[in-house]
Amino acid sequence: MKILAIESSCDETAAAVVVDGRDVRSNIISTQIPIHTLYGGVVPEIASRKHIERVNQVIRKALSDAGETVDSIDAVAVTYGPGLVGALLVGLNAAKAIAWAADKPLIGVNHIEGHIAANFIENKDLNPPFLCLVVSGGHTHLVRVLDYGKYEILGRTVDDAAGEAFDKIARVIGLGYPGGPKIEEDARAGDPTAYHFPLAHVRGSEYDFSFSGLKSAVLNFLNSEAMKCDAAKRRDTLLSDSAHSKSGVGDIPLIDGKLFGTIQRSDLSASFQKAIVDALTTRAFLAAENEGEKRIALAGGVAANSALQSSMREEAKKRGIEFFCPSKILCTDNAAMIGCAGYYELMKGRRSPLSLNAFSDLPIGASNGE
Ligand code: KG4
Ligand code: ZN
Repeated sequence: MKILAIESSCDETAAAVVVDGRDVRSNIISTQIPIHTLYGGVVPEIASRKHIERVNQVIRKALSDAGETVDSIDAVAVTYGPGLVGALLVGLNAAKAIAWAADKPLIGVNHIEGHIAANFIENKDLNPPFLCLVVSGGHTHLVRVLDYGKYEILGRTVDDAAGEAFDKIARVIGLGYPGGPKIEEDARAGDPTAYHFPLAHVRGSEYDFSFSGLKSAVLNFLNSEAMKCDAAKRRDTLLSDSAHSKSGVGDIPLIDGKLFGTIQRSDLSASFQKAIVDALTTRAFLAAENEGEKRIALAGGVAANSALQSSMREEAKKRGIEFFCPSKILCTDNAAMIGCAGYYELMKGRRSPLSLNAFSDLPIGASNGE
């Protein structure tokens, strides 16, 4: 079954052709990152507009790279939530138009379920059940994948998502958007043990996550450093040192790679990244141990983080658990994963109506608008 898949939930306009769920014939991604970087984060209005400008070209390229046409494909899969509604509507309406005009079945796919399905593409032998840690810009979930399209949520973040924490701290320390890859790069030169930031435990729910405490701990640390810094001395240093620059939104002075001239920024990045990685790894393997899971997969944009991948891989090896993670291009937003998830939905006989709507919030395992 040849599926044309479309994804436009945030700042990537993407289309792909996927055959029988796991054979990716084309995977086109047009990213808007350079535009949103100018504003320090995704501007929803701009995202919608850029999707409109690009969606047709991206779909055309995905079809032509795969040697297909709208008539030769068998179905259209599209992300219908969760995400930015204005952005989602662009991909959804393009998918509906093609499904209607070419008389093909339409299947709405949950974006998070798409991230989980990304693991199937390169691991041809992977089948449910397994445990999956989904970490993206908007979501952090620990999910037991019971069957294709069937999930049990074991844990979730009670406040910020892991990617959101990366993005917020990156902005404050002047690394800009998107925070995850910027912090990962900066952390390479840093010492992860330089600063200790606490791992928050959510009382009463051992598999849940909380990242707002970590974010506050970093901000408090920066604030106390700011207060320690003598204002006059800082002003003098700034005026005399030609190597300084403002570090960004937080307006923290950056002198020779040091925030306030005292905190090595790469050490802070590495320590912050370690705190997130430790929180994610600890909870995921606690769940695997308690629930007797022998296979664990990683998914979502933050799964592209090398430190997280290494930590999870190492822990899995120690415990004799099989570990899976998509390649970077399939971790961050793409349409191949939507084609894969859509295939298994269609195989179950599911179809979405042409009245399918977009949803900013959409629970994992929700129906496809049938
Ligand atoms: O899955 P995704 O592409 O979009 C959403 O569904 O949200 O995830 C985007 C998030 C952003 O917060 C971004 O900073 C984070 O994933 N991210 C990373 C890395 N690459 C992307 N976080 C840490 N390390 C990375 N290498
Ligand atoms: Zn995503």
